[in-house]
Amino acid sequence: MEKLLVAGGKPLRGTVPISGAKNSAVALIPAAILAESTVILDNLPALSDVETYMTLLGELGAVVSRQGDQMTIDPSAVRSAPMPNGNVKKLRASYYLMGALLGRFGEAVIGLPGGCNFEPRPIDQHIKGFEALGARVSNEYGAIHIRASKLKGAKIYLDVVSVGATINIMLAATRASGITIIENAAKEPEIIDVATLLNAMGAKIKGAGTETIRIEGVDSLSGCRHSIIPDRIQAATYMIAAAATRGDVTVDCVIPKHLEAVTAKLQEMGVHIYEMDESIRVVGQRDYESIDVKALVYPGFATDIQSPMISLLTQTNGISLLTDYVYSNRFSHIPELQRMGARIKVEGRSAIIEGSRLNAAKVRATDLRAGASLVVAGLAVPDGVTEISGVEFIDRGYDRLVANLTELGAEIWREKE
Ligand code: EPZ
Repeated sequence: MEKLLVAGGKPLRGTVPISGAKNSAVALIPAAILAESTVILDNLPALSDVETYMTLLGELGAVVSRQGDQMTIDPSAVRSAPMPNGNVKKLRASYYLMGALLGRFGEAVIGLPGGCNFEPRPIDQHIKGFEALGARVSNEYGAIHIRASKLKGAKIYLDVVSVGATINIMLAATRASGITIIENAAKEPEIIDVATLLNAMGAKIKGAGTETIRIEGVDSLSGCRHSIIPDRIQAATYMIAAAATRGDVTVDCVIPKHLEAVTAKLQEMGVHIYEMDESIRVVGQRDYESIDVKALVYPGFATDIQSPMISLLTQTNGISLLTDYVYSNRFSHIPELQRMGARIKVEGRSAIIEGSRLNAAKVRATDLRAGASLVVAGLAVPDGVTEISGVEFIDRGYDRLVANLTELGAEIWREKE
């Protein structure tokens, strides 16, 4: 086990290139098994969740290799083996194997997913979608059994806007017979990325990125080459860290449109932002206004960014309110921030954040974005070394974090616990 040490008080300065999106990668990798020939993914992030997925695909018979930021997946020998335990429990996105195996083989047996369990995360909408496509779904001793003699297109209305359910249904419906319509679909950029890959493989998907997605099933899919979109959550975290340290940072290789909600909120606080074609420059200021933030589904302010945003909101001159409308209790970072001197109260699904001076402390990350929040807070502390344990959570979603921050002038390093 390792811990992160952050010596605060250094303004971040320079340019940071942003890697491919984790939440795309963990859907694109399983999507590849729907094809019958080789899929090449470029701009792959170097993350532990991606490594776990490589192993999972290997267990199913795929031949997977990685050279730098490129992954080659030959799915021709994949079979539908039961995966009740082991690596599937290590990450949440293993649930995409349900849709992919169901689409390719008409059956899947998979353990309930693990990953960042910051609160109960049901998968009822995924199951509702599979059943609508004609599958029988049962939960036997903690493993989900999904079987269909024939998958048939259907009209599916999602009761909640869910990224995972939208992608999972899209994966299964791609090889169903007839037309599937997903209503009240999620609109996140990662959904468009998955549809782009599937269409390049020969699928017929229209409307990804809107609330109605139409999928005309096809008999077979073949390999292709695809470049993963930039990670908007990593980019937003560096933007927030730049503001929190009163630095001057350009996040490079990004799609500025994906970051509009974050840009707007930083500007409202008084941060100076300059948008270019594929990069955004963030210039921090000494004084910040307090603001209200609502975490919503895309194109709203992402729930994955609320944790680092709360750390930044401790740096304002007033009282800010952040309400998470996606998850009702994703606040495990708050007791840790309180240890660092933050004055924050939680009421229901809202955090009330009073501007305060942070101090260094020993804190623990209990999930990925809570970890990011503590890194931002550690960087913003005027002096002293913050010790963050639970680094394995941060490694799931931030590649080259220490190297990137060091290049930006931060003093941050890892030590054995
Ligand atoms: C994805 O999770 C992301 N994970 C999460 O990022 C992100 O926080 C979340 O979307 C919301 O944007 C991946 O893409 C791998 P949802 P997902 O289904 O798909 C409820 C990170 O830190 N819901 O969109 O699992 C659910 O409880 C991770 O990178 C149901 O009620 O989230 C939540 O309140 C953490 N029933 C809301 O919908 C369902 O069947 C949105 O969840 C499914 C979801």
